[in-house]
Amino acid sequence: MQRIFIKGIKGGIGSTSVVANLACVLKKSDVDVVAIDLDAKSDLGLHFGLKWTATKGWSNESTFDDALLHFRKDSDGVLFLPHGDNEATLDEIIATINNCKKLDYKGSAWIIFDCPSHINISHYPLEENDIVIELVTCDAICHSLIYKRLQTLKSVESSWKHFFVVNRYNAASVLEFDLFSLWQSTLPFMAPFFINSDEVIKEATANRNVALNCAPYSVANDDFETLAGWLVSKAAN
Ligand SMILES: Nc1ncnc2c1ncn2[C@@H]1O[C@H](COP(=O)(O)OP(=O)(O)OP(=O)(O)O)[C@@H](O)[C@H]1O
Ligand SMILES: [Mg+2]
Repeated sequence: MQRIFIKGIKGGIGSTSVVANLACVLKKSDVDVVAIDLDAKSDLGLHFGLKWTATKGWSNESTFDDALLHFRKDSDGVLFLPHGDNEATLDEIIATINNCKKLDYKGSAWIIFDCPSHINISHYPLEENDIVIELVTCDAICHSLIYKRLQTLKSVESSWKHFFVVNRYNAASVLEFDLFSLWQSTLPFMAPFFINSDEVIKEATANRNVALNCAPYSVANDDFETLAGWLVSKAAN
């Protein structure tokens, strides 16, 4: 089972939207795809058709066996586990990540974690084959946050595969073009593509769905296909 951890380098960059859209695109290849919400906002389910009134999830249970009862399947066949409305400690989040290893899936399965932006990724029980994606936007704040993150990555023994992926890219902005070009030519771990800013992502969420189902020929859906294909190649390496 390939584990993917997705988080924003700061809040609001789009990690939950990316997890949901990516999960549905990966599911098209008829592999098992599981999405786990590790964020106390518990909003991942909204992209999979879950009503906001369904508030319970793994954080409401004291054992993983009970948490299993909260797994749901969306219309594309993606299995997802909502966070729920109980505050979880870091230890409980770590236990949930570890317990997910007990899920009995084939090697070809994907498990994608929607990680809150405020928890440093190195606190998680990461392993050699894990892929961590930190989402960034092309602005000055992310520019400095990426450099700070590269410093911390140097100081920890990171054996996992760590990448930065640009989300909400505005092709009309000269500053964004310049920053993206600079990062591509000077920084390690930058994915060689970006996810465009596209209203389709917001509209799909308004329909409690993803771009694949609401606008399959959109720029956004093309971008998620690119991300999925690139991840397949990274998982194989
Ligand atoms: N590529 C994109 N183009 C346009 N809008 C986007 C894109 N990605 C995300 N959004 C929008 O940005 C907003 C924040 O997205 P989302 O909730 O996925 O971010 P997040 O990183 O999970 O936030 P948080 O840190 O609060 O968990 C939403 O309105 C979403 O529709
Ligand atoms: Mg989120």
